[in-house]
Amino acid sequence: MAHYARHTRCKSPTPGLVLCRKPDMTQTLFDKYGGVPAVTTIVRDFYKRVMRRPNLRRYFVNVSLEDLILHQIAFVSMAMGKTPHDYAGRSMKDAHRGIGITNASFDLAVELLSDALTAGGVEEADVSTIIATVNTLRHDIIER
Ligand code: HEM
Repeated sequence: MAHYARHTRCKSPTPGLVLCRKPDMTQTLFDKYGGVPAVTTIVRDFYKRVMRRPNLRRYFVNVSLEDLILHQIAFVSMAMGKTPHDYAGRSMKDAHRGIGITNASFDLAVELLSDALTAGGVEEADVSTIIATVNTLRHDIIER
């Protein structure tokens, strides 16, 4: 069977002309879960969860709503396989320098992301992969 016929999100009408990525291995979780629309839903949910927690909200008091939304999108998209380069003009270390994000705050953000992903229908094994990816950025982001 042609690849596009097995891959429900691939709309290639021309056999042999397959423009999408293979569903396994090379496909990012971002693509697997439907790209922008799915990530948008997860981002909104994650944003609400973050802002309900004073311990996380405090970091964003002087950040514009627009930057705040961009932040949540960067956080979730990066967790799902986009590279820092796609989102930040600065490195993660530069972007978070001087904010004083604690290890405990980072843990809480990861926990809320995990909750939002699960609520958004992301499979448990993929949630684990995503959390592992985010954790690789921990030491560029925390300062205390
Ligand atoms: C994987 C985790 C994270 C990613 C991918 C991420 C991504 C980003 C990006 C792309 C920026 C903007 C960089 C730029 O201006 O060029 C940024 C800034 C910022 N981040 Fe994060 N971040 C993460 C975790 C966190 C956490 C856990 C917190 C706080 C709890 C946090 C708080 C902030 C704040 C306050 C700014 C400055 C926003 C501004 O002034 O515009 N970030 N982050």
